[in-house]
Amino acid sequence: MPFEDLVHYDGCCFPPFPPLAKDAKKHLEALQNMKTRDDDVIMITFPKCGTHWVWEIITMLLKQKAEYHPLTREHVFLDVIDDLSSLDTLPSPRVFNTHMPYRWLPREHFKAGRKVVNVIRNPKDVAVSWYCHWHSSNELGCGSISWSEFFEEVVMGQYKNAFGGYFNFQRELYHAIKSNEGYSLCTLYYENLKKDPVSEILKLANYLGVPCTTSLATAIAEKCSFQNLKQASDEMKDHGEEMKVMKEMGRDPPKFYRKGEVGDWKNWYTVSQNERHHAMIQEEMKDVNFDLKLIYEI
Ligand code: A3P
Repeated sequence: MPFEDLVHYDGCCFPPFPPLAKDAKKHLEALQNMKTRDDDVIMITFPKCGTHWVWEIITMLLKQKAEYHPLTREHVFLDVIDDLSSLDTLPSPRVFNTHMPYRWLPREHFKAGRKVVNVIRNPKDVAVSWYCHWHSSNELGCGSISWSEFFEEVVMGQYKNAFGGYFNFQRELYHAIKSNEGYSLCTLYYENLKKDPVSEILKLANYLGVPCTTSLATAIAEKCSFQNLKQASDEMKDHGEEMKVMKEMGRDPPKFYRKGEVGDWKNWYTVSQNERHHAMIQEEMKDVNFDLKLIYEI
């Protein structure tokens, strides 16, 4: 049965990433207590919002070179790393990434005002990208389910609390930022990055406190265009960490670089699905008390 391997914990559900499947409480407490360094950056993104893309951009900015990292972002994906202390051996600066809601994120990192980056993407493109990801990798038995089954179960239904749920995930993070002086956060929008990558890269460099000329930003934008990054991922990156996790989870490798467009949701949603999701989004937006601009087309 699809979805029966989901891990349920504290009102949320997650894919059975090995340390969560083993002992979610233990892993999430270890994550909360994880020690970070002053120059560490943590990307906190809801799944399918452009994590791979922006992780690569950040690593290039910190290196001050438009050169791909030889590894994938999975080698620093905090949700799947069993022993977080193993990351102590990595050289600085480290660019971690996680899809966990704020409540389990490294306390010390926030309290010290260290760098945090969130990427937001409109929830309809997120839903389609997510379905294609789980479908292509047969994650949670989704290899045989249709888009409309996924829409009913995960977007609108009993599993809409996956990773805390799209809106709760954002609410928790922005509430923490607003109510704690000294917490730091840079918010990027997937759609703005597609429309004007150079300006967004310059904005990100400014937040990270690293120098960046327009010519470096242009070179990074080009290296990280969808086609170029996909090709680099296929041809030169070491996928060892990712493959190890997939093997443990008994699933096929997902297609992280699928289409990379804004507005693909229009090719998937029926009129009725669109109306229902729109109504749900309107309801959720009522108590969003931070600046959240959802962009559905560019
Ligand atoms: P699609 O499935 O819509 O193509 P994440 O990295 O958070 O899992 O997000 C994956 C989504 O980001 C996928 O969306 C993927 O294609 C897209 N993506 C990855 N690299 C991209 C890039 N360089 N430009 C635009 N989109 C990109």
